[in-house]
Amino acid sequence: MGEMNPVKGMRDYLGEDMRLLRRIEGTFLGTAALYGYQEIETPILESVDLFRRGAGEGTDIVRKEMYELLDKGGRPLALRPELTAGIMRAIMSEKLHSLPDMPLRLCYFGPAFRYERPQLGRLREFHQFGVEAVGADSPALDAETIALLMTGFRLLGFQDLRLLVNSLGDKESRDRYRAALRDYYRPHLERMCEDCKERFRLNPLRMLDCKVMGDQELAKGAPSLQDYLGEESRKRFEETLRILDSLGIPYEIDQGLVRGLDYYSETVFEVHLLSPSGKDYGALGGGGHYGGLLKELGGPDLPGVGFAIGAERVLALMKELGLGEEEGREVEVAVLPVGEEALPYAQEASYLVRGMGYSAETPLRAGKLSAQFRRAERKGARVALILGEEEMKGRKARLKDMESEEQEDVPLERLQERLDQIFGEEEEEDGHEE
Ligand code: HAM
Repeated sequence: MGEMNPVKGMRDYLGEDMRLLRRIEGTFLGTAALYGYQEIETPILESVDLFRRGAGEGTDIVRKEMYELLDKGGRPLALRPELTAGIMRAIMSEKLHSLPDMPLRLCYFGPAFRYERPQLGRLREFHQFGVEAVGADSPALDAETIALLMTGFRLLGFQDLRLLVNSLGDKESRDRYRAALRDYYRPHLERMCEDCKERFRLNPLRMLDCKVMGDQELAKGAPSLQDYLGEESRKRFEETLRILDSLGIPYEIDQGLVRGLDYYSETVFEVHLLSPSGKDYGALGGGGHYGGLLKELGGPDLPGVGFAIGAERVLALMKELGLGEEEGREVEVAVLPVGEEALPYAQEASYLVRGMGYSAETPLRAGKLSAQFRRAERKGARVALILGEEEMKGRKARLKDMESEEQEDVPLERLQERLDQIFGEEEEEDGHEE
């Protein structure tokens, strides 16, 4: 029954994982709102050309990992391997660059697709949350973007993340450095992997994070980008680091950090965290400043800075760290009819309770009350409403607080007030715990 499984490298979300995915989405979108970002959603399919020009012709992502297809009109389309290029396209389509207040601050959450070898932390369909701040060029904005990233992880409950930063410098810095790298690698090129030979031609910076053993050894002796940074770029990087210091955000400078997309310039960064069991899911998120991307795509010459996190990697770590665990009430109010005659009244009461904003469940057939109570307990109900003939006649409910075990009679017209009290106190207690 192979066809009944999801496509290789893709997965279903349900139960606990679905809840955590939504929590990651909600927490990061909420964090972005704290920093003044507006949410945007762009199509999953875009023209192949957008990613060739956006992410870069020479990147693994575009050369090897893109899901490409022709639509029925013969248009070459790709499932987006990342969302930044699409956001830039939307900025042009919607003429957002002519809005008076710069920078634009946009955030997003959605699926992305890469035809990679599936392994720990690596899927072919995964979800990214990300932000893009476009239309201002400032180390303060770079630092603010990193701060947003750290706030999001903090609000999810993460501590001790490793933040890696590096500067790729401006175009001139990188051109000088590329030339130096080619000089360094040229005598060794014959012995290197096929990918590196290609990277030598297209973008020798990518040779630095080749995963092949021998090539890794070589990378250790390669010239350092820091020695080729222009004065302006060096100052800009130092200013970014100074702001991070003043915010109390710890970081490590990683001179080997070059990132996998071509559009970056100046400051780049990634967050990493080993799991408690020592698993490395890869970067939880990464991003940086991009100077010429919008212009490269035919838009105005506006720089930007942004990042994206991989929700699946964050999710896997949250589970290992026990973050985001919930007592999980599947149902808040169990409505229990005593005998078949009370069933219509129980259905009415459930309808009313849901209209009061609480989840309610009532059985389809009135079974034994003891069995109904056991089910209510399994579902974590806080309140049980026991409804018999007497309650039906009096338009009231016998309310049992499942925690204190206390019972009381509550007329239907006072039910909202009473439920608000009980659940309001519960929320307050939970709030104090955190
Ligand atoms: P990226 O580093 O290619 O950057 O991807 C961002 C994050 O997506 C990674 O750190 C990782 O957590 C997750 N990710 C990437 N590939 C996979 C995969 N196959 N399976 C699971 N998770 C994955 C970007 O995509 C840039 N657009 C970020 C950016 C925004 N830069 C500036 N603005």
